[in-house]
Amino acid sequence: MGLIGVIDSGVGGLTVLQKLLQQNSHNFIYIADHAFCPYGNKPNEIIFDRASKLTQFLKSQGAQAVVLACNTISVYAQRLQQQSGLYVYDVITPTCKRIAESGAQTVALLATKSTIANGVYQKNLSAFGIQTVAFDCSAFVPFVEQRTTTSLTCQKTIADTLRRLPQTQADVVVLGCTHFPLLKKQIAYYCGASKIVQCSCDLSHSTLKAPNADKTVLYLTTGNADFADNAASWFKDGQVRFRHVDI
Ligand code: DGL
Repeated sequence: MGLIGVIDSGVGGLTVLQKLLQQNSHNFIYIADHAFCPYGNKPNEIIFDRASKLTQFLKSQGAQAVVLACNTISVYAQRLQQQSGLYVYDVITPTCKRIAESGAQTVALLATKSTIANGVYQKNLSAFGIQTVAFDCSAFVPFVEQRTTTSLTCQKTIADTLRRLPQTQADVVVLGCTHFPLLKKQIAYYCGASKIVQCSCDLSHSTLKAPNADKTVLYLTTGNADFADNAASWFKDGQVRFRHVDI
C-alpha cells in the first residue's frame, strides 16, 4: 500500500490533494504547518528547516513519497530528496512544463515573496524562452486561512497588488501559491484575456502506483485543530477533521 505525505503551510495544499485524490489510489497524510504559517515572508533557513522536519516526520510514519503542495517549499525539492531518501515531488516543475506546452510567451507569476526571490519559476520558464513578470501576493494567504476572502480588506489588498497586472498582457497568469485557487474569482477580475493556470503535482510517472480500494487520508496540523477545520471547511463539504501534532 502506498503512503504519500502532502505538505503545506496551511490549507492551500488541499487544492493539490484534491487532484491527487481524483487521480491516485494511495493513502495520504496531509500536514498543514499552521504553527509556522504563512511561510512566504519568512527567511529561507526557517522555511527549509520546517520542510525538512515535516519530511522526516512523514518518513517516520512510513511515507514512501512526499508531495510539496506548496510553491514556497517546492524550491527545496532536490535538497529534501537527498536528505530524506524519499521521492519528493514539487509543484513548480510540472506547472512550468504545462505552461510551456500551452505555447505561452509571457507569464505573470502571482506568488509569495520567498518563491519570487528564489527565482525557480523565472529560471524554469526562461529555459523555455518564456518571460516572467512577478507579483508579490504574500498578503493574500491569511485571507484564505481566516476565510475572509470576500471581505473588503481582502478585495482592497488584491486591487492594490494586482492593479498593474492587466498592463502585462501576459498569455498566462500562474497561481504560483496553492492558496490562490481559493481567490480565483477575485484574481480573475484583473486577468483580462490571460489564461489562469493553477499549480499541480504530477505523480503519473511515479513507481508508486499501488491500487488500494480503501484509500485513507489523515489530516494533521501543527496548529490548532479547530482553526484548521474552519480554514478547510470549503473542502469535501466541511467533512474533514484535523488532528493536532507537535513537529
Ligand atoms: N501555499 C503556499 C505556497 O504555495 C505557501 C503560502 C504561505 O504560507 O505563505 O507557496
